[in-house]
Amino acid sequence: MSLPSSQPVTEEPSIAELLAARPHLAMNAVDGLTLESVPLNAIADALGTPTWVYGAGTTRARYRALAAALTTAGLDADLHYAMKANDHLAILRVFAQEGSGADVVSAGEIRRALAAGIPPANIVFSGVGKSASDLHLALAHDIGQVNVESAEELEMLAAIAAGQNKTVRIALRVNPDVDAATHAKITTGRAGDKFGVPWGDAAALYARAAGLPGIQPVGLATHIGSQILSLAPFRAAYARIAALVTDLRSAGHAVTTVDCGGGLGIPYRDEPAFGPAGLAGALRSAFHNLDVRLKLEPGRWLVGPAGVLLASVVLNKQTGATRFIVLDAAMNDLIRPAMYDAWHGIVPIAAADAVAPTTSTDIVGPVCETGDTFARSRQLPSLRQNARVAILDAGAYGSVMSSTYNARPLAAEALVDGDRWAVIRDRQPVEALWQAERIPDFLA
Ligand code: LLP
Repeated sequence: MSLPSSQPVTEEPSIAELLAARPHLAMNAVDGLTLESVPLNAIADALGTPTWVYGAGTTRARYRALAAALTTAGLDADLHYAMKANDHLAILRVFAQEGSGADVVSAGEIRRALAAGIPPANIVFSGVGKSASDLHLALAHDIGQVNVESAEELEMLAAIAAGQNKTVRIALRVNPDVDAATHAKITTGRAGDKFGVPWGDAAALYARAAGLPGIQPVGLATHIGSQILSLAPFRAAYARIAALVTDLRSAGHAVTTVDCGGGLGIPYRDEPAFGPAGLAGALRSAFHNLDVRLKLEPGRWLVGPAGVLLASVVLNKQTGATRFIVLDAAMNDLIRPAMYDAWHGIVPIAAADAVAPTTSTDIVGPVCETGDTFARSRQLPSLRQNARVAILDAGAYGSVMSSTYNARPLAAEALVDGDRWAVIRDRQPVEALWQAERIPDFLA
């Protein structure tokens, strides 16, 4: 996603190559594109488009692959799914059944995680601006750990803990001053970024925390950014955190856990990715001698590839030399291309469409902004009106970032699990858009 879609460096992957790299998707001559064992046309026939579809089996398999990579590397680690990536209750339930905890960043996420059946003890609360009421809720539910991001937050939390007569386990989120080499909007661990406690202040703040009643410092946390495709920034950040663990212990403090954050990137296009084994190797070299229990907060890697956004062609339009395909999905549904210049694969759902000759096409949505563009100059077959496409790797930071801009209701959602599927969110009725609005009497 560091490659703006308008400037391809190498030839883009073909439809066949995109599918070959995603074994949960397949093109079947009769049924067209399938996710796990369900034809996506069946879901679009039933629910219309735009519709999000997620693979539960795919998500489960990815969770297990990540957990296995950590075990194989000999690491003692707990996974806390970063639910901001996709916080649907059904997705959370899949993780709860796998024994995953949750990384949450708001009171709303705490309530969602609990509603989906994630035990409070397996919840870690991150975030740069937790309000007093957020912290009250966290303590009232006895959640497992609060990752404190500032001296100010520490004092606020101590006062709330005293008020509730509770002791809260905290980790200090340290900003290691490492550039994650990802998109500037989602790099979080540089010195000037708003996140965490400056590296140089961490030891003194840890000592302060240890002296506060109601606060039990148990370790450190860090999270340097998202969609990270090179190991070097992870290694640099973990090395700093590991050194800090040693320093804190020399000063007589207990450090039993390190939360290594999320950030593991996925190949949206054909980027080389090191995957869980690479990450596990970096974790092992930094921490295996330290006798700490690790936590990880992956979001995107677990759910991103498991989801697609189904859309239909509204019309084809030729403007000068440019061929536009206008879809019924838009930037209000999937904002990643507009917001981060993100590249997402786009694959026709009908088998015949997928093998038709391709030409250069811009794929856009109907919203009244030029930024409402899913792809520029993409080689795609000509697609007649109502033909359907799947926008790939839309399971993370897709529906959760949707808006109703242009009075476009939130799309439907479906969950596939092997050969079964179910609607997991109805398409929002258009009246719901103004249900909470009031016209004041003085306008009567
Ligand atoms: N932990 C913390 C404290 C985070 O802030 C995040 C993501 C994660 C874990 C999970 O990171 P992941 O494993 O998913 O990379 N909307 C952007 C991504 C924003 C990520 C925000 N924080 C996008 O669509 O690319």
